[in-house]
Amino acid sequence: MGRARSSFLVTVLFIAGNLLFCGIRHAHSLAVRSNLEIVKQWKLFSYEFPPHAPVSDPDYYNPTNIVPTSMTVAYDRIFIATPKLFAGVPTTVGYVSKSDFNESPRLNSYPDWSYTVSGRKSFNCSDSYLVSVYRMRIDSCNRLWILDAAVSRTFEDSEQTCQPKILVFDLNTDQVVRRIDIPKDVLRNQSILVNLIVDETTSTSGTCDDVFVYIADTVKPAIIVYDSARDMMWRLSHPAMWPDPDLGLVQVLNDKFFIMDGIIGLAFDTINGILYFQPLATDRIFSITRDALRAGPRRLHDILPIRFLGKKSSQGLPLYLAPQDGSLLFSPVTETAIVSWHPQTNKQSVLFYDVEALQFVADISESPWESGVVYAMSSKFNRFTSETVNRDEINFRLMRFKYPSRSAVSSQRLFTPSAPFKSDLYTNGNDTIYTRAEERSSSATYLPYSLDPNTKYFQLPSARSSLHTFAGNGIPATPAAHILPFGRGGYSYSLGVN
Ligand SMILES: *[C@@H]1O[C@H](CO)[C@@H](O)[C@H](O)[C@H]1NC(C)=O
Ligand SMILES: *[C@@H]1O[C@H](CO)[C@@H](O)[C@H](O)[C@H]1NC(C)=O
Ligand SMILES: *[C@@H]1O[C@H](CO)[C@@H](O)[C@H](O)[C@H]1NC(C)=O
Repeated sequence: MGRARSSFLVTVLFIAGNLLFCGIRHAHSLAVRSNLEIVKQWKLFSYEFPPHAPVSDPDYYNPTNIVPTSMTVAYDRIFIATPKLFAGVPTTVGYVSKSDFNESPRLNSYPDWSYTVSGRKSFNCSDSYLVSVYRMRIDSCNRLWILDAAVSRTFEDSEQTCQPKILVFDLNTDQVVRRIDIPKDVLRNQSILVNLIVDETTSTSGTCDDVFVYIADTVKPAIIVYDSARDMMWRLSHPAMWPDPDLGLVQVLNDKFFIMDGIIGLAFDTINGILYFQPLATDRIFSITRDALRAGPRRLHDILPIRFLGKKSSQGLPLYLAPQDGSLLFSPVTETAIVSWHPQTNKQSVLFYDVEALQFVADISESPWESGVVYAMSSKFNRFTSETVNRDEINFRLMRFKYPSRSAVSSQRLFTPSAPFKSDLYTNGNDTIYTRAEERSSSATYLPYSLDPNTKYFQLPSARSSLHTFAGNGIPATPAAHILPFGRGGYSYSLGVN
């Protein structure tokens, strides 16, 4: 398909998508989600099953056991990774057509149903089967790199079904063009490979084959580096990639659960050659240079040069580097928000806050076909772990927004400054901007997350959804709120200013 024609189609689809979105909004009276546009949303996944699929067998298909961990947007399709966390996942990579105007289309199996091991009694791991996939990436040659962790029923018996591998598909033909088996010596017992970055910064061949790939092992925390030109792989580990036991308990609204996952979020700054990463069970973000990753295996006493970037308010999964200004986007799970952080200025800004739509954001990414557009996927994973999934509400959402979104956000200022709001709490900040806010006690029933009884927060009278906490486990959460480090571990913030 020619590129010129493609971009025309994309434009048409984009406009149509916007119109559709208005329709969805009215039909379901979704709250205004600032500038977050819902692209697709599902209660649970259903599939375009092949004939004779054993759909009534819950070990083959059990909709309340299927949770997406990422969505990858290509030119014409949206790929959805549903790892085999439990039994009952019929395929690990699904896709829907981007031009399907249905808000909750049925999924198909990528590239087709012959690639799934679900429902098969025996199969040969040397064949191109996909067992359990968490994340994938599209390279600049329009190829999809699918990282197969190959572990089935991770939360049940955690079976190592096959050896982990990467299958690279040409998206023009949907054929496997490359297979990279991850050798045993860079794996550990119970390794689970959940994320990858394809680093093309020194690729010269134009084929996207002479790249480096950085792979996150979340359970036996490490980064596995693959030098594709030399076909070599090595494993690098550091305490920064491990979970912090004090932060193993994750809270999303009323759901609390333990996840002791290590390194999971990866974002790559192609201009400065820096890989940012975060374990799940931590409140920290770290970075390492491309050169340190590429320097080859290290000896035991050789400490990896890891930079500690700073702290955030709660745990999170995805990291995304916005090429426009070098900001890192992440989503603190407890605050149900998407936040940007500029590593140079150390300034954090809440871009989006939504108690419903931003429950457990598992992926933030971009599509090579839509410049300046960022996609985010949320999954209500919290409900799946606590077995309180509600089949009648939206559980999975794919959203998108323009970045930078500052102009759009500031045009939606929540209030007009008038009389200054004063509080001893904000002595570190510029308190003249806390205007017309009401300070309240924390006993109100509509708190979106539990607070320490002594925590002070305030709510803007004009907007019920903009509740701002000050200390405890909350960060201020509203579009256009800026967070500044405050005192010991707290944050102060300002509203409606840059
Ligand atoms: C699996 O396939 C490989 C490659 O085709 C072959 O060498 C091997 O013998 C097969 N294994 C089994 C158990 O059939
Ligand atoms: C790997 O871990 C499993 C589960 O804990 C255990 O049963 C098995 O013996 C381990 N294998 C090796 C080689 O350590
Ligand atoms: C406080 O905010 C006001 C209004 O935006 C600004 O003029 C002033 O320079 C700020 N002061 C400090 C110390 O940042």
